[in-house]
Formats: sequence, C-alpha cells, structure tokens
Amino acid sequence: MSDDNLAREREHEKLRRVLILTGGDDAPGLNAVLRAFVKTAIDLGMRVYGSEDGFAGLIDDPPRIVRLTEASVQGILPKGGSILGCSNQANPFAYPVTAPDGTEQTVDVSESVKATLLEREIDVLVLVGGDGTLEIGMRLAKMGVPIVGVPKALDNDLAATDLAFGLDTAVATATHAIDALHSTGEAHDRVMILEVMGRHAGWIALMSGIAGGADVVLIPEIHYDVDRVIEKIESRTSAGRRFSIVVVAEGSKPLGGTVSSITDAHDAIPQRHVGAGLQLARLLDGRIDHEIRVTVLGHLQRGGSPSSFDRLLGTRFGVRAAELCYHEDPCQIVALRGQEITAMPLEAAVSKHKRVPADGELAGVARAIGIELGQE
Ligand code: F6P
Repeated sequence: MSDDNLAREREHEKLRRVLILTGGDDAPGLNAVLRAFVKTAIDLGMRVYGSEDGFAGLIDDPPRIVRLTEASVQGILPKGGSILGCSNQANPFAYPVTAPDGTEQTVDVSESVKATLLEREIDVLVLVGGDGTLEIGMRLAKMGVPIVGVPKALDNDLAATDLAFGLDTAVATATHAIDALHSTGEAHDRVMILEVMGRHAGWIALMSGIAGGADVVLIPEIHYDVDRVIEKIESRTSAGRRFSIVVVAEGSKPLGGTVSSITDAHDAIPQRHVGAGLQLARLLDGRIDHEIRVTVLGHLQRGGSPSSFDRLLGTRFGVRAAELCYHEDPCQIVALRGQEITAMPLEAAVSKHKRVPADGELAGVARAIGIELGQE
C-alpha cells in the first residue's frame, strides 16, 4: 500500500469494509463497474469483498464471500458477464427451498444475511442490480443495513438513470443483426422479423430499428395494428422494395391481443416473454405476398464484450459508488442525469420505471423517417 493510502487509512478511525454484489441478470459493463469500484475503494483505503452469484453468496452456509483486490479485477474490462456471477433467484426475503416433503417453498433469510454482514463487519453493502435487487436493497436498508445502489437495466427501463450500461452494447448487437438481415432479406424478397429484448420497454427495438434502418418497429408501449404493418409492407412492394425488416420487442402485443409468453417453474421472472416475432409472423401469414422469416436475437444481446460507452458508464458508476461508501453516505443510488453522474436517495429510485414515450422525440424521429410503429 502506498504511503498516501496508508495515511488516508489512518485518517479513517476504522478501516471501512465494503461488500459488492451483482444481482439479477448480467449486462455488458458489469465488470467495468466492479473494476472501477474495487480500484477506487482500495485507493480510498477501504477493504473490498464480493459476494458470489448475487445474494446467493450471502445466503449460503458457509457464505461465499471473496476478498477483492487490484489483482482480482485486472484484465476484466473487455469481459462480458460478471466476475462475481449473477443470480436472479436469490432473494433473501423469498428464498426458494425444497421442503422435506419435496414441495418448493420460499423462506425469509434476510435476518441471516444481515447477521453475516455484521459478523464480517461490513460497513456498506453495494448492490449492482435492477429493480428486484434495488427493492431488496430498500428492504435491507429499512433493517439498518447501509446500502449503495448501482442501477443495471439492459432494457433501460429504470427511471433512476437516464441511461443504463449494457443498452449500448445490446443496441449495437441488434443493429448488426438488422444489417445482416437486410442483405439476405433483399436477396429473397422476404419479410424478415427480428425479435429483440425489451419486456416492458422498447428502447432496444426502437434505437436499433432507427440505427439499422428498419421499416417497422413494434414496442410494448404501442400496441400494434397489424393492418398498418401490412400496409407498410405493401407500400414498399408497390415502390419496388420487395423486402421489409420488422423489429419487434419481446413484450410487444397486437391491439386487443396478448403478449406472447411462457411460464417455466424454474424462472425467476413469472412470465418469460418469448414468441412475439412468431406471433406477428402468424398474423401476417397469408395476408402478404412474401415469405416470412423470424430471427430471435435473445441472449446474444446480453453476452459478449461491452462497448466502449458501456465500459465508460460502468466505470463512472463504479467510481461514484466507491466515493459514496467512503463519504458515509449510504442508502443512495448512483445515476446518470444528462451528462453528469449523480446520486439520489435509494427510495426515490426503486420501482420507478422508464418507458418509451409513444409520442416522444425518439418515436417522432422514427415516424419522420418513415418507420411504421403500429399506431399513429
Ligand atoms: O435483463 C432484462 C432481460 O434481458 C429481458 O429483456 C429479458 O426478458 C430477460 O432479461 C431474460 O431473462 P433470462 O435471462 O432470465 O431469460
């Protein structure tokens, strides 16, 4: 440790011990957050720990807690996923267990999580996660656990932050897919449907649809009129453009219809939204004079190396989160507001969602360049 750090540490009456975890789903940029957090926290004289697989590491007996040093975070910037692992099953307030009679139940293990943190003398628990993780953080904060939050939402549906890391990488992946579908769609005069992520918010669909030059973009916020989609495809055909690209968010649904989903006993999400592309293909089938092909981009949008934007945003979040821990300002969440990284009370951020405004600027841009959104 450098002399500077030693001096800083002595200034602190007691060495602060912080524990970070990555809850919920992974998103490109998580490792950038971890790296920046660990480096900054150590530089500020704190001792850093990580819980493996989200809250699971704090729930398991013995707990799976690891010391994080500069060496632990070396070379991780370009890596997707999280070096700590993620879990969207491990909710301390409703932890799934198998009862002796073989039935699945949930139990509240929050007191034991708090006890583990006290036993390890953790001063601040840092949660990098989405809605579910931050909600858990709020409840732990009410039990007296100091929390610092870092928002994570691949679908960009958390109101707390103007932009979430991971979105940029997902949009780039979807845009490349649209580019690829253009050439093969054009070669065969087909209607190419691309299903992208976005359970409740259509940011990935709309942003990639504009960037990739899609003809139709369907998002959860605008229930689509299939006749308008058909009219758009036919008008292109009349104009000599015999192929069309349709981007559909997984949470989209037709007017008067339902979201296509499946329920799986092992899913953390009660209803997994799959099949929006296929649902649209069925609605179009027989009503247009084209072959239709559906591509589901799925988890390719979440995996892989993060874009430079996501590495940068994750790094900015990580630095600020460490500073919040140092300045004994817990129960805050970091956020991007405009161009600035800022912090706000955790409770102001939890459960507030951000949707694509149906008559907002981005939807207006799409309409202005002739993209059909399924409604006026
Ligand atoms: O992270 C959000 C999200 O990407 C959604 O768009 C998608 O529905 C969901 O995750 C898929 O989650 P899972 O990995 O549990 O299938």
